Amino acid sequence: MTIEIEDIGSNPAPRATIGEIIAARFSRRGALLGTAAAWLSGTAAGAVPMEGGPSTLTFKELSHQLAQTDAVAEGHEKHVLIRWGDAVLADAPPFDPRHVTAAAQALQFGYNNDFIAVLPPERGGRIGSRALLWANHEYTNTNLMFPGMGTNSQARARVTAEQAEAELMAHGGSIVELERVDGRWRAIPGARLNRRVTGATPMRISGPAAGHPRLRTGADPGGTRVLGMLNNCAGGTTPWGTVLTCEENFNNYFGGELAEGPEAASNRRYGMRANPAYGWHRHMARFDRTREPNEANRFGWVVEIDPYDPQSMPIKRTALGRIKHEGATHAIAPDGRVVIYMGDDERNDYVYRFVTARPHDPANPAANRDLLDEGTLSVARFEADGNMRWLPLVHGQGPLTEANGFASQADVLIETRRAADLLEATPMDRPEDVETNPVTGVVYVMLTNNATRPASRVNPANPRPANAHGHVVEITPPGPAGQRDHAAETMSWGLFLLGGKPGQDEGARYHRATSSEGWLSCPDNCAFDSKGRIWIATDGAGSAAGVADGVYAADTTGRGRALTRLFYQAPTGAEVCGPFMLPDDSALFLAIQHPGEDAGSTFEQPSTRWPDFAEGMPPRPSVVVITRTGGGSVGS
Ligand code: FEO
Ligand code: CA
Ligand code: CA
Repeated sequence: MTIEIEDIGSNPAPRATIGEIIAARFSRRGALLGTAAAWLSGTAAGAVPMEGGPSTLTFKELSHQLAQTDAVAEGHEKHVLIRWGDAVLADAPPFDPRHVTAAAQALQFGYNNDFIAVLPPERGGRIGSRALLWANHEYTNTNLMFPGMGTNSQARARVTAEQAEAELMAHGGSIVELERVDGRWRAIPGARLNRRVTGATPMRISGPAAGHPRLRTGADPGGTRVLGMLNNCAGGTTPWGTVLTCEENFNNYFGGELAEGPEAASNRRYGMRANPAYGWHRHMARFDRTREPNEANRFGWVVEIDPYDPQSMPIKRTALGRIKHEGATHAIAPDGRVVIYMGDDERNDYVYRFVTARPHDPANPAANRDLLDEGTLSVARFEADGNMRWLPLVHGQGPLTEANGFASQADVLIETRRAADLLEATPMDRPEDVETNPVTGVVYVMLTNNATRPASRVNPANPRPANAHGHVVEITPPGPAGQRDHAAETMSWGLFLLGGKPGQDEGARYHRATSSEGWLSCPDNCAFDSKGRIWIATDGAGSAAGVADGVYAADTTGRGRALTRLFYQAPTGAEVCGPFMLPDDSALFLAIQHPGEDAGSTFEQPSTRWPDFAEGMPPRPSVVVITRTGGGSVGS
């Protein structure tokens, strides 16, 4: 998200001891050497590289661009699956860019698709010629949605009550049934399971913080019911067939004076402002903290949604903590407990993990219904010796006591960030996706960037000051591939790659054979194909490196390890989200978010009209599908 600076950083004192700085210098060398060994092995054979050198990915690599339209590697086809304003429900009106209303948006595909999951068409089934799409609608570009709004910063003041309501309904998520006809996936408007979840959909609050006085409001004196979810960025799925969708920059919606009081420290730590990115608080009382001081505490959670029951009520699972959640991806420990990895996407914030108290029951999905209400939330500390430790956020343990303002586990969860500060977690360079490679069991942490990290505050896992291009960390749980103990207290870690242009950006490191087009900037989301190769989507490369955001693929093991190759590039202003590879590698689904979100871009004069290049049409966030021409595996 780049509508407003989401990542200014509100961690007032990122930990950096003298010992750590010394260790960082030491470990930076060690960690890089460790990775360098793999890079060297990638070229050890010394053979003349064919396309892609030692990479197992054989597609013809793109050249970097920054253009009004997108591009995909030769031999592949892209088509638009669904766009902002397309019908989801049967009675949706046709998209009319000059009359965007709340009523229409509640029935149409929402704005700024981020996380996507492609699920079996029925619970526990398989993807064949039918499937089910979940898409997050993270936020809205007010200035590109409505005529006459001017640029982003001007639009905030100009938005009317009716427009703010329309924006609220353009948030949330969509469920859309899909079918594959003659090898091409298409959306089915009005299908039985289709659903729009919005910023106003009734939701239940569950887990240890449910009903706590800090979650009670005038409209909900019980503290267990909330209207809607906001800024849902990335997400994940569960083994029992539900979707996890994660509230990220919730602070952008709550305005009004920041008075001293019981929520003051918490509000500061979450970056609350008197004048936030949106102007909704001027029209809707619940977003005005002077009228509803607790409403903001009801946002910033992981939301679980059953996509197979359109009547089901989404549930905010407080046990997983309140942060600016990027995603929530699962792995399974050898004893059957479910592990959820999560990032808190802000400069100098942390990586988290939740482990359920009980194992899941694969034979009985109903028995897992409330598994995410009970378990242990932990935060990561990366040590210089190549080990990392998960520090439990449990009330009464260590500093998480009444003396520090934590009277119960509910307080620990409502103020997860402040609790993690006290445990001295490792401040990271914007933790985005944290995902497990299904083949190797190694966990990948996308760290987008942290251009303001001073040299005095580097740490072993974030070794570069002024890190404009981000990097990727690998965490290896103990145990062999296929039996990794994702619930273990300690794991080992290393660096997979450091972003930026080799030879130009200090510290940029990839496989030695990475081409002049294969370097990347600002890794954000990732996916894995059936061979365990990583597909990395970027966010912010336009401003950081002058190239469009895109998708880069690389081996994670073997001679082509960390040899990233450019596969897809988005239109100007857009970031690439979602990446979701079908289990048989036959299609790569991508969410192209905020096309045209460039400085100075307006509804009347956008920097791109992608994907509908017709005069008067605004840019439209879209989900696209990439397949190999003639069929076969994407990428090779
Ligand atoms: Fe919404 Fe962290 O990107
Ligand atoms: Ca992003
Ligand atoms: Ca993201």
